[in-house]
Amino acid sequence: MQTTGPSLTGVRLVLAVTGSIAAYKAVGLLRLLRREDATVNVVMTAGACRFVTPLTFEVLSGSHVATDLFEAHQEMLHLSLPEQAQAILIAPATANCLAKAALGLADDLLSTMLLTTQCPVIFAPAMDGDMWRHQTVVEHVATLRRRGAVIVEPEEGSLASGRLGQGRLADEQRILSALQAAVRPRRDWTGRRLLISAGPTQEAIDPVRFISNRSSGKMGYALAQAAQARGAEVLLVSGPTALRPPAGIEFCAVTTAEEMRKAIMTRFAWSDTVIMAAAVADFRPAQPSAQKLKKQQHPVTNLKLEPTDDILSELGARRTRQVVVGFAAETEDLLAHAREKLQAKGVDLLVANDVTAAGSGFGSDTNRVVLLNRDGDVTELPLLPKRDVADHILDRILALQTGRRSQTTRPRTRTPRKE
Ligand code: CTP
Repeated sequence: MQTTGPSLTGVRLVLAVTGSIAAYKAVGLLRLLRREDATVNVVMTAGACRFVTPLTFEVLSGSHVATDLFEAHQEMLHLSLPEQAQAILIAPATANCLAKAALGLADDLLSTMLLTTQCPVIFAPAMDGDMWRHQTVVEHVATLRRRGAVIVEPEEGSLASGRLGQGRLADEQRILSALQAAVRPRRDWTGRRLLISAGPTQEAIDPVRFISNRSSGKMGYALAQAAQARGAEVLLVSGPTALRPPAGIEFCAVTTAEEMRKAIMTRFAWSDTVIMAAAVADFRPAQPSAQKLKKQQHPVTNLKLEPTDDILSELGARRTRQVVVGFAAETEDLLAHAREKLQAKGVDLLVANDVTAAGSGFGSDTNRVVLLNRDGDVTELPLLPKRDVADHILDRILALQTGRRSQTTRPRTRTPRKE
């Protein structure tokens, strides 16, 4: 079997353990981190010490385990530990730990460290399913994500309470991948130019009313941010959403399908990948009124619609070297409709999702998608945070581009046969 060697050589980490029954799993995680050659300083909260003894972690990490903000030590641990670390991994992270981090409370060593650190922080939460779904926890997780923390979502399964739900500490390989990405971010999109659309378009009926599609823009924004993090130059063309334009990404705000089409066509030649994640309106009022229509004018019965241009089909027909990726939002017969769109729109990759499925609806932070390409490959991804879905899509695009390059170079390298 081929081995690539340890992935964390030269990396110094803090592994923080908080008071969940899953604290025993942090022992296995520590062993994995040590096998990957990381230097690990363990910090334990008082709750964690009730479940597993510091001695266990001390023996396995080979260094002192810090448990107390006020412990007599030559260094100030809440400053020195994060200063030396390339990442802080909190596994398991309790609801209490997430809350303290989100609110900036500093009443023990770990929470104080989180206020001093500049390095990436990765939370791997574990708790009962009802707690994980509680609005307070949901809001704290959103706050932490917004500030740049990585959340390795807990998994579904049987919980310590005996109930089924989402709350089990993520698999250690998933935690390791998140950690590897944080300390050694992938830059495999460096030198690539991504043109991406997101959000809905709005088509005016009159100055106060419009036709639109349901779309939060979250999937498109996640793709733009993931590509930028991986080194790409990104232009995000966005319809109206409640999201903030991501920092460091060229941003073009549009309202109508026609404005989106123009913005995309103007920069099509610049790009080498185009992703149409926008929910473009298919119809617009043929004659929008300059004045607000009055109820008495029966605007609904008199409303004439005309089709908008299909931007994705135009891209599929016009592309030269670009990889063109489309989305398909469906409510039934997902695969059949997605296959039709893949062919009809001439795209390389289609990302299909059933918008009625649990966790994949409009506005959700997660998505369950199926990837279809022109060779007939169909890949179903599990329910994942949109940022993880974005990374999978970007991986697939890279694979398509690599395949395309090797197809175009192969005939040239073939030796001509002598007749
Ligand atoms: N799309 C586009 N221009 C349009 C409509 C859609 O570029 N005028 C793109 C979307 O951005 C998406 C893909 O086409 O990438 C599929 O969009 P979807 O709404 O799922 O399908 P439609 O083509 O609109 O077909 P239908 O409404 O019949 O499902």
